[in-house]
Amino acid sequence: MPLLTVLRDRFESERPFDGMVIAACLHVTPETAVLAGALRAGGARVVLAASNPLSTQDDVAAALDDSGVEVRAQAGADRDTSSAHIAAALDSHPDLVVDDGGDLVSTLHESRPDLVAQVRGGCESTASGVLRLRRMAAEAALAFPMLAAGDTPVTRIVGNARGTGQAVIDGILRSAGILLAGKTVVVSGYGPTGEGIAECARGLGAIVIVTEVDPVRALDARLRGFRVLPLESAAAAGDLFITATGSTSVLGEAEFAAMRDGAILANAGHFDVEIDVRALASKAVTIEPSVRPNADSYELSDGRRLTLLADGRVVNLVAAEGNPPEVMDVAFGIEALALGWLAGANLPPGVHEVPAELDAEAARLVLAATGTQIDSLTPEQLAYRDSWRVGS
Ligand code: ADE
Repeated sequence: MPLLTVLRDRFESERPFDGMVIAACLHVTPETAVLAGALRAGGARVVLAASNPLSTQDDVAAALDDSGVEVRAQAGADRDTSSAHIAAALDSHPDLVVDDGGDLVSTLHESRPDLVAQVRGGCESTASGVLRLRRMAAEAALAFPMLAAGDTPVTRIVGNARGTGQAVIDGILRSAGILLAGKTVVVSGYGPTGEGIAECARGLGAIVIVTEVDPVRALDARLRGFRVLPLESAAAAGDLFITATGSTSVLGEAEFAAMRDGAILANAGHFDVEIDVRALASKAVTIEPSVRPNADSYELSDGRRLTLLADGRVVNLVAAEGNPPEVMDVAFGIEALALGWLAGANLPPGVHEVPAELDAEAARLVLAATGTQIDSLTPEQLAYRDSWRVGS
């Protein structure tokens, strides 16, 4: 993770977080451990709760604890225990927060309003979490500034499109154990994540259908050569369904009724609401758990069987190991830069974009670390760029 290594060294000398507490609610993975190390090098006390107990790696949690990061997480913890872990992380009285999906920030506002005044702000790591924060801000319920780190141009390119696309397919292949070539894959949602999934599936020889509600994204998908259909028509055609919408109940009773025998269902969205698992269970005459790791088979009354992966939870983190380190290096590098900047900034409450210079700096540092050189504008080109007088 070269970007975080550069930033750790920079933080070690500049100490931007001296005397500060950073409470983070993230997937407890080796990549998160590297981020936590960089923040600690900058002088922070770091307290970490898990953003999803199913992705928590207990060995990583133990190693982090040994290194001085205070970890409140346990693999497979139930909902109450996970909530207690988040509450315990908040007991640290944070100055800065790092969230993944918005549970830490929403718990802070709902259960610990006494802590709000001390929080200078924070970063949200996921696009779904950014949407949730925007809903909070629209109700004037967000009491401090949050940077949309999960939704910058660079995270969209590196994180959502490339990293998550590959990791989602990785999780599906591990749990479903199928050949993708020749299969019809229905990707619901053509945001950056859906795009990455669709491209990755096509690259492995799948026939990809995209379903969308947004005309601009649907047009983009069509012009990239994907078949765009309403879900109602796609439901009968798919061998594999992948949701990446950030919405709720995308695959429900009507779609289950239309699906082919043997269809496989997976969710790539952060929250486990995109596939209506309760409706699927209510329609099943038998549920055979763990037909493969992270795969349950639901038999319907007409004898068709549908396979649900990872309980409808975020498949790249539950059935695989999340985004690969190269990707998290960039995503967490942007968060580290953003936190360092936020520690000295004074922003009003609300959702803010990560400053474009920080995003560009992350890209520049990653290019440098990977030995990739690029050109710069000549003085003549700079003058041309900055002048409106010269035309054709
Ligand atoms: N989000 C997606 N992939 C991740 C990873 N490997 N570690 C932490 N958070 C993630």
